[in-house]
Amino acid sequence: MEMTQRAHIIGTGLSVPERILSNKDLEDIVDTTDEWIVRRSGIRERRISSPDRDETTTHLSARASKKALEMAGVCADQLDMIVIGTVTSDCQFPSTACRVQEALNADNAVAFDVSAGCSGFLYALNIVSNAIQCGTCKTALVVGVDRLSSVINWHDRGTCVLLADGAGAVVVRSNPKEGGILSSHLKSNGKFWNLLYSSDGNGYTPAILQGLSKMPFHLNMNGNRLFKRAIECLSSIAKDALRHNSFSSDDIDLVVPHQANIRIIQAMANNIGIPMSRVFTNLHKYGNTSSASIPMALDEANRDGLLSRGKNVLLVSFGAGLTWGASILKWSM
Ligand code: UT7
Repeated sequence: MEMTQRAHIIGTGLSVPERILSNKDLEDIVDTTDEWIVRRSGIRERRISSPDRDETTTHLSARASKKALEMAGVCADQLDMIVIGTVTSDCQFPSTACRVQEALNADNAVAFDVSAGCSGFLYALNIVSNAIQCGTCKTALVVGVDRLSSVINWHDRGTCVLLADGAGAVVVRSNPKEGGILSSHLKSNGKFWNLLYSSDGNGYTPAILQGLSKMPFHLNMNGNRLFKRAIECLSSIAKDALRHNSFSSDDIDLVVPHQANIRIIQAMANNIGIPMSRVFTNLHKYGNTSSASIPMALDEANRDGLLSRGKNVLLVSFGAGLTWGASILKWSM
C-alpha cells in the first residue's frame, strides 16, 4: 500500500552580498537618521549587491542552495524540482530557477519561478509540499531570493531605508514519517496591488552604486496603508494556521515571520498571543529582503540551534500583490 508522503525540510542555507549599508551611510543619501530608521523599523544595516562581485540574483541563489544541499547531504542531480520565489530575476526570462539549475548542474529537475512579492518563498514551499504529497516530486529545492536594490528609488526615504538583498534556500524531501510541513495557507487580494509595486526593469547593477542621476525609479510603496494591512493579514492567517492544526499559541515553539518591520512583527505576535522571546528576527542586520527573509531567518535560527526535532514552527508572510501566507512545520532535522 502507498504510504502518505510528507514534505520535510532537511537542509537550509543563506547567502547575502558582502557590502554592508548602515543607517549612517543612508544619512548621506536621503534626509533620514539612524534614530528614525531604528525606532520606526528596527533595521540597523542591510546588504546591497555589488556589480564588481558575483552577486546577481542567480549567484546569491546558487550560493544559498549549495549550503542547503550540503547540510542535507543531497547532490544537485538528485533534485527533481527547483522552485524559486523572486520578483527580481536577473533576466525577464528565462527564470532564475533555470539559471540556478545550470549553476548547480541539477540536470534532473524541473525548474520555475513564482512571483508573489515577499510571500514568494511560502508560495513556492506550498507548491513543493503539494507535489511531494501527490507523489510527483521526491527531493526539491525551494529558494526565496530578491535583490530589491535593483528597483529601489534611492531618492525615496520611505522605502530605500527598508529594502535590501539576499537569498535563502531549503531542501525538502518526501518521507512518510510524522512531521514536516503540517499545513500551508495562502491568500491574495489584487485590489490592493498598487500599495506596493515596481513598474519596470531589473538591471543587475544596484542603483546605489551607479550615481544618483542614472537611477531607475521603479518601486512605489504606500508604507502607512501597507503597515496596517500587514498586521491584519499576518495575524488572521497565523490564527487560521493554528486553528487548522488545532494548535493554541502555546504549541508554537518559534515563529519565523517575514522581516519587514519590527513593529509589524511585534503587533502580530501580540495579536496571536506569542511572546517576542519565541519570535525570530534578524531584520536589524538584513532589512527587508522580500522573498528571502523567511528562508534566511529559518537558516539562521537553524544554525543557531533554535530548531530541533519535534519543535513546531510557524512561518508567516505578507507582501506585494497583496499576497500573504502561513505554514506550520514540525521540525524534523
Ligand atoms: O515587505 C512587505 C511590505 N512592506 C511593508 O510591510 C512596510 C510597511 N510599512 C512600514 O514599515 C512603515 O509604514 C514605514 C517604516 C514605511 C513608515 O513608518 P510609519 O510609522 O508608517 O511612518 P509614516 O509613513 O507615517 O511617516 C511618518 C513621518 C512622515 O513625515 P510627516 O509627514 O509626519 O512630516 C514621513 O515623511 O516620517 C517621515 N519619514 C521619514 N523620516 C525620516 C518617512 N520615511 C522617513 C525616513 N527618515 N526614512
